[in-house]
Amino acid sequence: MWTRRTVPLHGLARRMTQPLFRNSESSSNTIAIIQLNGPMHTLDVVIEEVEWRSTQVGEPPEDLVVGLTELLVDAVASGASVSFTGGITLDEARQWWRKTLGSFSDRDVLLVARDATGIVGSVYVSGCWQPNQQFRGEVMKLLVHRRARRRGVANSLMEAIETRAREIGLTLLVLDTNAGSDADRLYQRRGWNRVGEIPEYSLQADGSKAASAFFYLKLT
Ligand SMILES: CC(C)(COP(=O)(O)OP(=O)(O)OC[C@H]1O[C@@H](n2cnc3c(N)ncnc32)[C@H](O)[C@@H]1OP(=O)(O)O)[C@@H](O)C(=O)NCCC(=O)NCCS
Repeated sequence: MWTRRTVPLHGLARRMTQPLFRNSESSSNTIAIIQLNGPMHTLDVVIEEVEWRSTQVGEPPEDLVVGLTELLVDAVASGASVSFTGGITLDEARQWWRKTLGSFSDRDVLLVARDATGIVGSVYVSGCWQPNQQFRGEVMKLLVHRRARRRGVANSLMEAIETRAREIGLTLLVLDTNAGSDADRLYQRRGWNRVGEIPEYSLQADGSKAASAFFYLKLT
């Protein structure tokens, strides 16, 4: 059964908004199609929900693991502070994604953004396990490959993950990010509440410590 919906895409006039679909019977749910038109190029990015759960028999699809691995390595190489320090190898990133996917439950939702060459973005929400916080989720691993940045892909991923979080019954989302980063601006622009900063919270790629900014978004 097809469910049609509109996800408002923030941004510039040159972006064309497409009808948005979700097919609950397909193996990967396409929930947003974004067509970005620039003077020199056209980039089609599709945001899909990954249906992999740790309860499934077998291993996560190889193309998914490879795409997410390359995305994480690219983010760290770009200087981003996303759990890892500068020297992460493909093998370490691969192991991390396999472990993460291996613990995915029905309370976790992973979205990926694809262009014609493969995965260019990711984000997931992890529903809290605590019985007294079942309404809360943590948003993690918002990553966009350097080849697809500054075209609204992250904004669209956030739009989509907030929509899905609401649909699975979450009413409160939290996240943290490097203070002063591109992501810090993005979350504020999207209306997330910036609670404050904790200084010297995590290591940067260059080994120095940086502050993190903490955010929440109420979905009701
Ligand atoms: C943070 C990150 C996810 C943003 O991804 P992105 O797809 O480039 O984000 P967007 O395109 O939605 O927005 C980024 C900027 O591009 C601008 N932009 C969006 N569409 C645009 C377009 N069509 N043309 C020009 N600029 C555009 C936005 O206004 C924003 O501007 P700003 O940085 O001056 O505030 C990406 O830089 C990244 O992966 N960084 C490394 C990992 C990381 O730090 N993740 C956050 C973990 S919490």
